[in-house]
Amino acid sequence: MISDIQKKILELKKQDDVLILAHSYQTEDILEVADFVGDSYQLSVMAKNTPNKKVIMCGVRFMAETVKILSPEKEVYLANKTAGCPMAEQMDKEYINSIKKQYPDYAVVAYINTTASLKTVCDVCVTSSSAVKIVERIDNDNILFIPDCNLGAYVKEKVPSKNIMLLDGGCPIHASVTKEEAENALKAHPNAVFLVHPECKNEVVKLSHFAGSTADIMNYVEQSDHKEFIIGTENSIVQHLQFKYPNKKFYMLSKNLICADMRATTLMDLYNCLKGEGGEKIELDEKTIELSRRCIDKMIELGK
Ligand code: 13P
Ligand code: SF4
Repeated sequence: MISDIQKKILELKKQDDVLILAHSYQTEDILEVADFVGDSYQLSVMAKNTPNKKVIMCGVRFMAETVKILSPEKEVYLANKTAGCPMAEQMDKEYINSIKKQYPDYAVVAYINTTASLKTVCDVCVTSSSAVKIVERIDNDNILFIPDCNLGAYVKEKVPSKNIMLLDGGCPIHASVTKEEAENALKAHPNAVFLVHPECKNEVVKLSHFAGSTADIMNYVEQSDHKEFIIGTENSIVQHLQFKYPNKKFYMLSKNLICADMRATTLMDLYNCLKGEGGEKIELDEKTIELSRRCIDKMIELGK
């Protein structure tokens, strides 16, 4: 049943013609009032194609920045201004420029989980759902893949024809899962299909039946006749899937798969942001937008 706050949110959103975007890791009450729910790739494409003048992102900062880069004419808000992505902050453009100097003939492929500032010195962005396809299609055999070395290792295995160099970065949440935890989960649930996000360590991904983005994992479940699944990504997905498919069983790969940043946004944050009393308006200078847009546009072009 819809709550009073949710009703008010729906009224305000209609009145002010606001588009509410939510990453699938958000809580159920937020997903219920969002106009669109998806993984990073789907959210970026969605943002580009909507007529609304105002957009609120319930997710993390790099996602709101991506919306602003693709639609600079829109007012874009991050519903909770503290929601960052620790991985996105791991590398800055000075560091990457210094590596580029040493390897001038490498194409720099940036996971979308990076700051707008870092994207200005990269050649193309990828998301977890598009990384393999885009790396295959890049017109350069030498690739510097940043910042996630686990997603990078996954891509490297899938695209052996490319010379892929990795740096020491990654998602602290997904990378915390150990091989032992994965083996224990498989032992405890021998009939379950194990689905994993490629931000997990390679030794964990290797034990899975399928690796993909949050949307890929959810689509896999939708199309599968299996009854039990081990979910190797943020535990919110376990809850959403269990809610959607009450006759199937979903198990956490690890109880540590909790991203505090993705969980920071509440329904009240969204309500306050709609009222103009909270959240953060994303401001990026023209040069940053122009330069960072090139690699996001390239991602959309190569990801088709
Ligand atoms: P997706 O591309 O699967 O949405 O990943 C976003 C993310 O932050 C995963 O941790
Ligand atoms: Fe960033 Fe990892 Fe959280 Fe995703 S789960 S937002 S990659 S820290």
